[in-house]
Amino acid sequence: MEMNLKSPRFLRVNQYEIPVFNDEKKKVTVGCVGDFHISKITSEKQKAFLKRGFETVRPDVILVHGDLVDSPEYLEDEKIVRELEKELKICAGFAPTLITLGNHDQITSSGRRDLPKIPEGIVEKFEKIFERVNVKLLKDEWFEFKDLRVFGFLQGPECSRKNGKAAENYSEMERKIKKLFKDRKLETKPGKANWFFSHAPLQDLVYLKELRGFEVFSFGHMHGGCVPIGVDKVVDKIGWNGGIVSPHKGLLPKKQTRGIEILPNRARVVVNTGMVAISDVGPKALQYVNALKAAEVTGVIIC
Ligand SMILES: [Fe+2]
Ligand SMILES: [Fe+2]
Repeated sequence: MEMNLKSPRFLRVNQYEIPVFNDEKKKVTVGCVGDFHISKITSEKQKAFLKRGFETVRPDVILVHGDLVDSPEYLEDEKIVRELEKELKICAGFAPTLITLGNHDQITSSGRRDLPKIPEGIVEKFEKIFERVNVKLLKDEWFEFKDLRVFGFLQGPECSRKNGKAAENYSEMERKIKKLFKDRKLETKPGKANWFFSHAPLQDLVYLKELRGFEVFSFGHMHGGCVPIGVDKVVDKIGWNGGIVSPHKGLLPKKQTRGIEILPNRARVVVNTGMVAISDVGPKALQYVNALKAAEVTGVIIC
């Protein structure tokens, strides 16, 4: 059973400015996208929106926040691999492109509803594709571009599987972050823009002392809380980031599912809503609303 996906009908481009350097000359623009969920329904529209979004944002670096395909078995399907390559080529044509993987890239559809099933060698399979189209998977490592430093935190099944149930396993994520910190892999540098990039939002883990040196966190996975087009403008204006319904979070999720939040230490958390709508989350009445969801390209200007 794959997710009930809908092609996006509209493109939303959100742009945020984050003052880190207070120096216009050091300005870097990061384009955030994700949740392509490439499957049999993927349309030409998604590619067109990706292109138009980047033409507007004009990114220096692109981050793709995982859930590239709807299920890892799709990597056996040549047509879907070609689709994925085409979308990643669009990204790489604009700027250096960094990738993280999501739950849908690593856990098979049946595994998502039952026990986790992770096909062997899946990360390596993705890497072969990435090499062909010149994009880079960040496996718990840094990437530097001028004064921007991006740390890609690669989540495994913990981004959607806890004790055999569909839920984010935050204690496992915390354990991994603490280990990376202990191994001195998470060292941030003052004076630079330190950016933490992953799939499922860390939620309260962004307050961990091990992550205090980061100025920006960015995620995907939440599908934007399925806020319909039109209402989204109001929602963004009042700064309500919870959304209407979200995977694993149910109705009116309290946690951030979209937009940007400012933490007490001034760090920002950006959640990209992705490139597809899902219509099997939440009550039937909302399924039509979900179908109206737009693809989002987020531009984050660090200056
Ligand atoms: Fe997703
Ligand atoms: Fe996800």
